[in-house]
Amino acid sequence: MKILVTGGSGQLGQELKRTCPEGFNAVALSSSELDITDAQAVNDAVKLHKPSVIINAAAYTAVDKAESEPERAYAVNSDGAANIARAARSVNARLVHVSTDFVFDGRKSSPYLPYDTPRPLGVYGKSKRQGEKAVLEILEEDAVVVRTSWLYSAYGRNFVKTMLSLMESREEIRVVSDQAGTPTWAHGLAQALWKIVSLPQAQGVYHWSDSGIASWYDFACAISEIAGEKGLLDSSPRILPINTEEYPVRAKRPRYSVLYKGTSIRVLSITPPHWRENLGLMMNELKGIRR
Ligand SMILES: NC(=O)c1ccc[n+]([C@@H]2O[C@H](COP(=O)([O-])OP(=O)(O)OC[C@H]3O[C@@H](n4cnc5c(N)ncnc54)[C@H](OP(=O)(O)O)[C@@H]3O)[C@@H](O)[C@H]2O)c1
Repeated sequence: MKILVTGGSGQLGQELKRTCPEGFNAVALSSSELDITDAQAVNDAVKLHKPSVIINAAAYTAVDKAESEPERAYAVNSDGAANIARAARSVNARLVHVSTDFVFDGRKSSPYLPYDTPRPLGVYGKSKRQGEKAVLEILEEDAVVVRTSWLYSAYGRNFVKTMLSLMESREEIRVVSDQAGTPTWAHGLAQALWKIVSLPQAQGVYHWSDSGIASWYDFACAISEIAGEKGLLDSSPRILPINTEEYPVRAKRPRYSVLYKGTSIRVLSITPPHWRENLGLMMNELKGIRR
């Protein structure tokens, strides 16, 4: 089966390349090879590769910067997604479109269900929600929207790598402790996406993240602890919990964005590991890369 992956050099795009199962012929295009905001280029690429399935891993992911460049965020996350959906329809391909927990406002205190009403707080979340709607409207049952949360990987920029470099250079780090979600290793998400690709009956909205719940503070403490155990850090700075108000940023974030995954677990017949377990696996990999 031929699969076209957009955003091939992002964290998820790279993990999709590394985890592509046997029997799937994946072509992953980076942003310089395919700009999804260019409808003609998207059409040409789809006509050239004739995929049965497209995975859209391309996105504008700079949550705070999006507040000052909304046009760019919407162009990629909404118009770009719609371009891919239209091109998919023209060759009868399915589309697996990746979205985010930031489509929710965080007012719930139990995991968000796939059909809970999205109420995004910032430009990034709003542009991603618009992309979801476009994809589902254009492709109907040929679209799968997979929402995920707090992604990291050994490749690309993310919270784990930022924390590790701060921990190497500082004696004290202050981290927000009143926002809860689930850290997710992009490698595990990529494996779940391949499972979705292999299930033609999968359609509609799915949630996928690692298991468990954490605050950014819990996540930072686990990074320090596991990195210390694995010899990735020589020092262990003090980590202090702070409130959202003490760390002003441009974009408002949901206070709680844990995703309910029961349906996905049943349909895909896979259970995501606890986030700490996957964090350990990612750090093993990081150690290998740094050697
Ligand atoms: N990162 C998270 O914490 C997180 C959380 C929840 C959901 N998600 C979702 O998960 C998906 C994957 O995210 P990620 O963490 O892998 O993001 P990422 O590392 O930022 O990768 C996104 C990729 O999209 C590419 N891209 C940007 N604009 C493009 C365009 N116009 N045409 C084609 N490609 C373009 C980027 O290329 P350049 O680098 O060249 O711009 C980058 O390679 C996204 O849908 C994101 O919204 C992410």
